[in-house]
Amino acid sequence: MTIFYFTATGNSLAVAKRIAAQAQEEVTLISIPQIMDNLMSEYQDDCIGLIFPIYGCGLPKMVNQFLSHTKLKADYTFTIGTYGFMSGACMFNVQKQGGFDYAESLLMVDNYLPGYEITEEIAKQPQKKTEENLQKILSNISARQKKSNVSTLPWKILTPLIQFIGSTLIKNNQAKGYFVNENCVKCNVCAKVCPSGNITVSDKVHFHQQCEGCLSCVHLCPKNAIHVKHERSTVRWRHPDITLNEIIEANNRI
Ligand SMILES: Cc1cc2nc3c(=O)[nH]c(=O)nc-3n(C[C@H](O)[C@H](O)[C@H](O)COP(=O)(O)O)c2cc1C
Repeated sequence: MTIFYFTATGNSLAVAKRIAAQAQEEVTLISIPQIMDNLMSEYQDDCIGLIFPIYGCGLPKMVNQFLSHTKLKADYTFTIGTYGFMSGACMFNVQKQGGFDYAESLLMVDNYLPGYEITEEIAKQPQKKTEENLQKILSNISARQKKSNVSTLPWKILTPLIQFIGSTLIKNNQAKGYFVNENCVKCNVCAKVCPSGNITVSDKVHFHQQCEGCLSCVHLCPKNAIHVKHERSTVRWRHPDITLNEIIEANNRI
């Protein structure tokens, strides 16, 4: 089995690792940022999965590029979108785009700081039934179950609008949304967790023009020195099953 994943704060990687742990076969986990420079036109295995965080009811830009340029050839393919509040028609669209046999979304902690307070998000986890729903996904994948996502007409109409608003917000972050305060010790962690290699650190932290808007730099700064415009939380999130080093390994492009 091969699982491709994209992660900023570890939710999607934690799900990938859980699937790998219960699989009865060898599993290769591939972080999408690590292969973007040498993308193959086709990947083959008996089973292939794609796991990603849902952004603006759609895919992160890089995951969309990955899916658009690559064919996933396997007897069984699955995709899981992790999200915090609303997935819209995302999984319906992704299943159509990638022709996945099984597509499912999983409600987890929402790491979108302009929208959510992280302490409240952590407290909401039992209500979101993350573990219960993950267990169902694990057994469905293990049984190679197929699942077609359906989408209602209002969602089909609303989702492109939400995606447009989402991509505008991400562009705003990219242009002028990040602030670095005096706690910064120029440790370079922000540059290493950035999946697009968009950050360089010299006399200060420089944000360039390839931002995914994923907020990994903000959440994972060891000094909590990076802040995003209109953030509702000074508390940060990293999935407890995932270490900072694992995210660096997954995302480092420098
Ligand atoms: C830029 C951005 C946009 C997001 N958009 C949505 C969204 O449209 N719907 C939603 O429910 N969650 C949204 N989220 C929350 C993430 O999808 C969610 O927290 C995800 O599990 C994070 O996965 P990760 O830890 O693997 O990065 C968004 C997060 C970010 C940073």
